[in-house]
Amino acid sequence: MNAPFTLGDARPQFAPFHIGPVPIAKPLVLAPMSGVTDTAFRQMVQEASGGAVGLLVTEFVSIEGLTRQNMKAALRLAFDPEREHPLSIQIFGGEVDRMVQAAQMAADTGAAIVDINCGCPAPKVVRRGGGAELMRNCAQLEAIVEQVVKAVSIPVTVKIRAGWDQGSINAIEVAKRCEAAGAQAIAVHGRTRAQMYTGRADWELVAEVARSVRVPVIGSGDITSPEAALGVLTHSPIRGVMIGRAAIMNPWIFGQIADVAAGLPARVVSPAERVRILRLYSDLQSQRMPESVVPGRLKQVLARMTKGFSHGNLLRERAMRVQTTAEMFDWIESFFAAQTAVELEAWCQRARTKNPD
Ligand SMILES: Cc1cc2nc3c(=O)[nH]c(=O)nc-3n(C[C@H](O)[C@H](O)[C@H](O)COP(=O)(O)O)c2cc1C
Repeated sequence: MNAPFTLGDARPQFAPFHIGPVPIAKPLVLAPMSGVTDTAFRQMVQEASGGAVGLLVTEFVSIEGLTRQNMKAALRLAFDPEREHPLSIQIFGGEVDRMVQAAQMAADTGAAIVDINCGCPAPKVVRRGGGAELMRNCAQLEAIVEQVVKAVSIPVTVKIRAGWDQGSINAIEVAKRCEAAGAQAIAVHGRTRAQMYTGRADWELVAEVARSVRVPVIGSGDITSPEAALGVLTHSPIRGVMIGRAAIMNPWIFGQIADVAAGLPARVVSPAERVRILRLYSDLQSQRMPESVVPGRLKQVLARMTKGFSHGNLLRERAMRVQTTAEMFDWIESFFAAQTAVELEAWCQRARTKNPD
């Protein structure tokens, strides 16, 4: 079965767990997403979800950048320890010594966990022996995990894929070897490297990995609703569920899962709340990024968040044309303030006719 397990009438399983000594209060993990899950995004999601994210993971940080002290890598390491806890910093690369060095730098920031990326499909990462390439080079992966575990005092985890391609599915073997090398949790994205992000994640395989190791397994892939999240938590032996793309569309999703787990209806997100969260995100970005960069980041989130909204395409179109954050919020606020069909029609008229220049 490839589709996530459905919850049905079962009582949802929703239990805290530990990664080594680190308590994970809720079994919900924000997935690492390069170019997305920076500190502003992580804080925004944690705020929208009322603190229901049990573990936050950074976007991957390049060992090249870290060990050469480049600005971009340094920015990727930034976090707010008050609001982002526990935080796992994900590093990627293929060389043992440099991964050790990068892990030490990550641990020195005060992060709770360091995670090794073993799933990135990008050619520029794979070519250098990192990311998903490590699924094909288990001996090297084992050496990296072993040495990183020796070098840092915080737990080390690994995020893997199903395998390199359909003909070489080896997640179970890789997970076992990582566990033997000292990894304290394994996250599994149930797709092969060849699939990239196409097709469906194989949750049967994810469950099989969880049955094969003693350390907690966190499952990843295609979870977009409280029912799907609770379905996999309840009917498969995983300890945590990781959510990526659905959290861009719906940063409230972790709170909604916690609601349903507690027997409540999932919280409904009001238009005013959407504006509040977008403003928070924008303010958090402005605190650390040059003002010229903020509209681009905001557009990325807005584009996903308004998918499926009536006339959301028009809002996205307008937002794409403006240059400043203030102009973007003019459009965002007036869009979400339109409560009736008549008001929305008036907004559309204005959006269609207003001269973009
Ligand atoms: C834009 C984007 C960037 C990603 N970057 C990373 C990354 O830096 N490290 C990583 O381990 N996985 C990365 N992933 C994979 C996700 O963590 C996740 O495993 C995958 O998207 C499946 O989960 P989803 O269906 O909930 O999005 C990325 C995915 C997306 C869509």
